Amino acid sequence: MMVKSRAPTPHRFLSGLVEGVCESIRNFAAKLVKIGDIALGEFPLLLAPMEDVSDPPFRYVCKQHGADLMYTEFISSEGLIRDAVKSRQKLDIFDYERPIGIQIFGGDEEAMGLAAKIVDTTQPDLLDINFGCPVQKVVCKGAGAGVLKDIDLMVRLTSAVVKSTSLPVTVKTRLGWDDSTKNIEEVAERLQDVGIKALTIHGRTRVQLYKGEADWTLISKVKNNPRIQIPIFGNGDIDTPQKALEYKNRYGVDGIMIGRASIGYPWIFREVKHFMATGEVLDGPTLAERLDACRTHFVKSVEWKGPKVGVFEMRRHYANYFKGLPNFKDFRVKLVGCEVPDEIRATLDRILVEYEGLVN
Ligand SMILES: Cc1cc2nc3c(=O)[nH]c(=O)nc-3n(C[C@H](O)[C@H](O)[C@H](O)COP(=O)(O)O)c2cc1C
Repeated sequence: MMVKSRAPTPHRFLSGLVEGVCESIRNFAAKLVKIGDIALGEFPLLLAPMEDVSDPPFRYVCKQHGADLMYTEFISSEGLIRDAVKSRQKLDIFDYERPIGIQIFGGDEEAMGLAAKIVDTTQPDLLDINFGCPVQKVVCKGAGAGVLKDIDLMVRLTSAVVKSTSLPVTVKTRLGWDDSTKNIEEVAERLQDVGIKALTIHGRTRVQLYKGEADWTLISKVKNNPRIQIPIFGNGDIDTPQKALEYKNRYGVDGIMIGRASIGYPWIFREVKHFMATGEVLDGPTLAERLDACRTHFVKSVEWKGPKVGVFEMRRHYANYFKGLPNFKDFRVKLVGCEVPDEIRATLDRILVEYEGLVN
């Protein structure tokens, strides 16, 4: 006997449609990288914490150009407890920056726990611990990368922070202290066990500082360890969209953190995203766009730091924004020698007039 196929009733049709939409949402949500409850997209690009660089003015331009998650410069836990002005100021975060993480460092459990409580009151989206800073003044206090020599201490410090805050805690660290102690696989497991929600690994040891090439093979091993459930972000030497895609595919990380390549070039974030989405290389910024970003950075710098410090600290950025402009020396000297905000604005305007037509 032939069975006639029945057209779906409107009710069945609608519930099928709803189920289809729910399925798509579930699939999409499953692909999102999450730190605790914070959804970051399918392949987030993180702005690296950088002392004297990743302050609110710089973060403003990086956010405008596509950074998915940003971190403050590292903040001394001891400084926070002593209420040092410099440390306190680094806690300044703004709603438009979210999601944003505040990074702290220190070698003392009690101080780290207290600092975590202070960070809590400023309500960032997450709290990051720095176990990677190679600078001698930090290392010799048993903080930053100094902790890489003592994993038990690293675990205790992390646990003290996790217990003192309701924020998701993340860690940024290096492969190990030196070539003979690349202990990142053990470190990742033990830090996950005490409750961190994501780990960023810079593919160098402390002894390497910033020399040589970052080695991502161990980062990939951590990511592929079936015991590891938290997101693993790779860091080190990503400076082009092509390299970002190549490393994403080769090492399988959950996202990439970019540091130096963003200094004076916040477009790196949008360029990487565009290349990953389309395989096309975006044109670099025009001169007008470079000036616009530099001007915004300058305005935010003066706004947040006041004219004196804002003008002074902006000096380190001009050469980076205008890298490659021929015969730029006179303008650079003018920009770094000037103390009056209006004159700096006027000089920036003149750069556009001078170079228009000569560069794109
Ligand atoms: C000027 C500068 C300051 C830095 N300050 C910090 C910091 O405060 N906290 C931190 O975890 N790493 C710091 N780093 C390391 C970067 O976050 C990053 O791990 C490193 O630069 C490697 O990434 P990159 O090759 O993309 O630059 C700093 C690096 C630079 C160049």
